[in-house]
Amino acid sequence: MGAVSQRLFGVEWQGPVLLASGTCGYGEEYSDLIPLDDLGGLVTKAVSVEPREGNPPHRISETPGGMLNSIGLENVGLEAFVREKLPWLEENLDRARVLVNVVGNSVDEYAAVVAGLDDEDGFLGYEINVSCPNVEGGTMFGTDREALGRLVERLRGETDRPIVVKLTPNVPDIGAYARVCEEAGADGLSTINTFPGMLIDVDKRRPVIGNVNGGVSGPAILPMGVYLTWQAATATDLPIIGIGGIRSAEDALQYVLAGASLVQIGTALFVDPESAVGVTEGIEKYIEERDVGDLSELVGTVDVERPARVGLGYE
Ligand SMILES: Cc1cc2nc3c(=O)[nH]c(=O)nc-3n(C[C@H](O)[C@H](O)[C@H](O)COP(=O)(O)O)c2cc1C
Repeated sequence: MGAVSQRLFGVEWQGPVLLASGTCGYGEEYSDLIPLDDLGGLVTKAVSVEPREGNPPHRISETPGGMLNSIGLENVGLEAFVREKLPWLEENLDRARVLVNVVGNSVDEYAAVVAGLDDEDGFLGYEINVSCPNVEGGTMFGTDREALGRLVERLRGETDRPIVVKLTPNVPDIGAYARVCEEAGADGLSTINTFPGMLIDVDKRRPVIGNVNGGVSGPAILPMGVYLTWQAATATDLPIIGIGGIRSAEDALQYVLAGASLVQIGTALFVDPESAVGVTEGIEKYIEERDVGDLSELVGTVDVERPARVGLGYE
């Protein structure tokens, strides 16, 4: 195995770069663009119990330094995912690892997706998207520690496969949410999902996005993602997948030094699908030039003198 390979979640990962959920479909859509099986892996588009049509147009818009999206978690639903999407992943990916992104509006809905997938082949584990409204509680799972703990505990009871919880950045102290996931039995964390945002068309005096608001992603959120990854990493011992604004090896290495073992690339794929390959090569070069043994030696090694604390940093 090479210098960028690692053992995580009970298996070997040939590289640290995954394609982020919602930006690579179910894999097949990307197979003509880049050699998917050479990557660390990919995370599928969200899968819900029932198919979802998603939100009205416009669903995406470019922003300074990124994009705003409100797709509305459009997806084919559990049954069609198993029938039509998983077989392709099983047949075509031998070395790249697959995480299935799971969504729901109640604990039972999330649990039904996990239970419905667990006996199937073609994927390693689950990435749980907790940026979803909880119909039973009225808030998002990811911003309600009690609901988050209950959800993760329930899913832990449904599967022995790796459970990676994808945290929302929209909380005052992400470390507390990371610890809730660890205590409830999660195997890892993905940091972070998108930030809420809105754009207005000044000629029409209407929101640009059909759903009014959406999620901001891309280079603009890189510093927030790095900081929140560092906060989560200092709060728990769980392996972390760093996400947010990554375009280059240097961006990815910031996440690694902050505490991420793996990274995901999303918005950058819309500009250059091959950036995922370039990031891996750049990390290999960094390791070689600095005489580091392998990638795992770099994880969480940012030299920070003061202990982690919540604050704006300029006080
Ligand atoms: C068009 C689009 C669709 C997305 N769909 C999902 C999704 O279904 N589930 C999820 O957990 N995250 C979804 N995300 C969030 C990304 O996986 C990622 O967390 C976010 O975009 C930040 O990474 P980036 O700056 O590299 O894009 C989506 C992002 C975009 C841009």
